[in-house]
Amino acid sequence: MQGSETFTIHPGGQLRGTIRVPGDKSISHRSVIFASIAEGESTISGFLEGEDTLATAAAFRAMGVAIQGPSNGKLTVTGAGLRGLRAPAADLDLGNSGTAMRLLPGVLAGQDFPVTLRGDPSLSGRPMGRIMTPLRAMGARIEADSGDTPPLTIHGAALTAIDYSMPVASAQVKSCLLLAGLYADGTTQVREPAPSRDHTERMLETFGCGIERHEGVVRIAGGQRLTATPVEVPGDISSAAFFLVGASIAPGSDLRIEGVGMNPTRVGCVEILRAMGARIDVDNERNAGGEPVADLRVRAAELHGVDIPPSLVPLAIDEFPVLFVAAACARGETVLGGARELRVKESDRIAAMAEGLQALGVDAEPLEDGMRIRGGPMAGGRVASRGDHRIAMALAMAGLRAGGPVIIDDCANVATSFPGFADLARGIGLGIDTATDP
Ligand code: S3P
Repeated sequence: MQGSETFTIHPGGQLRGTIRVPGDKSISHRSVIFASIAEGESTISGFLEGEDTLATAAAFRAMGVAIQGPSNGKLTVTGAGLRGLRAPAADLDLGNSGTAMRLLPGVLAGQDFPVTLRGDPSLSGRPMGRIMTPLRAMGARIEADSGDTPPLTIHGAALTAIDYSMPVASAQVKSCLLLAGLYADGTTQVREPAPSRDHTERMLETFGCGIERHEGVVRIAGGQRLTATPVEVPGDISSAAFFLVGASIAPGSDLRIEGVGMNPTRVGCVEILRAMGARIDVDNERNAGGEPVADLRVRAAELHGVDIPPSLVPLAIDEFPVLFVAAACARGETVLGGARELRVKESDRIAAMAEGLQALGVDAEPLEDGMRIRGGPMAGGRVASRGDHRIAMALAMAGLRAGGPVIIDDCANVATSFPGFADLARGIGLGIDTATDP
């Protein structure tokens, strides 16, 4: 992250045209991880060239994996095999990336060298006990400086399979344990309380690894080798979500977003927006490397408030900041509960969005595990993103409906997941100016 970046949104825009959004962040991370421990050369296309996923690529490079690119979203990875990684010369810096910090220990726990993983101040405050507890039960030797938060030091050990019931639905924890399961003696079983994104399971299969999935349980036998394969990364629905909301709330909008990943474990935001009255059409549905992909058309609509069912929470977990903006523009009240996880993301997203929307005059009441929002007119104002990429982009969409300019501070981390956001948004009609202080 360089300097501090401010977005100024001039109200009154409408979103029109045809765009593509950058590659899916979750799938991009996994593509590098799996290709790095596979045997042979994998070509990845559509890779997200964001700071988070580049940190994962840099980490595997530092452990001796030959990685060429990315250039125009293309990455060529010559896998080192399950046991071919080497000790890095220094600590690995994972920047802002929770996914990297929670998935890499699954691979590193089974190596025969020690590694220390570090992150930026936000990542250094995020809970890691959720992976350390089950990894230790598998025999891993892993320490956190402060007990629960990064930096993490992983010494490498012989691992044994476990049968683990996750207390919260977390794709990061599930993925960490499935990766560790590859290195474990026996068959690892992970049970989830509710479905979470399943990109790891799909990609393990694409890399030729046998897994069993049955009613909330995933099983993986240790010692299986992964075979290199091409990976096509779809557009990130979490990035598309900003424009799905922006075009829904800005009168006159008509936007097409092509090549969006439509994995059923990720489409909660489309379901919630449709329940609010959004006009979203899905066409050209296809499959790309084990993941469903489609083109979306979204037109402005009169939204109304809804009670969001808790079952949709894991399926829309990263989209709530912008869904709160939709709720602020909707007629009536929207209530979300069962989403305490939002408090431990890149920022406390309940507090950050309540504060941001209140600064714009919205009736938003933070709840311990969610939010209550009554839609109504929005004013302009100055708001804080708390250095959280998704808060910054969500509040940028609020600017479409505000009564005056919305100034958003601390937006540099948008580059972690959505490089080029401001230019792309400007190109379809958002009145966005950016300014950087060195
Ligand atoms: C992710 C899982 C989710 C999500 C995060 C990416 C992943 O986190 O919020 O942005 O790639 O597995 P949790 O596993 O903590 O729910």
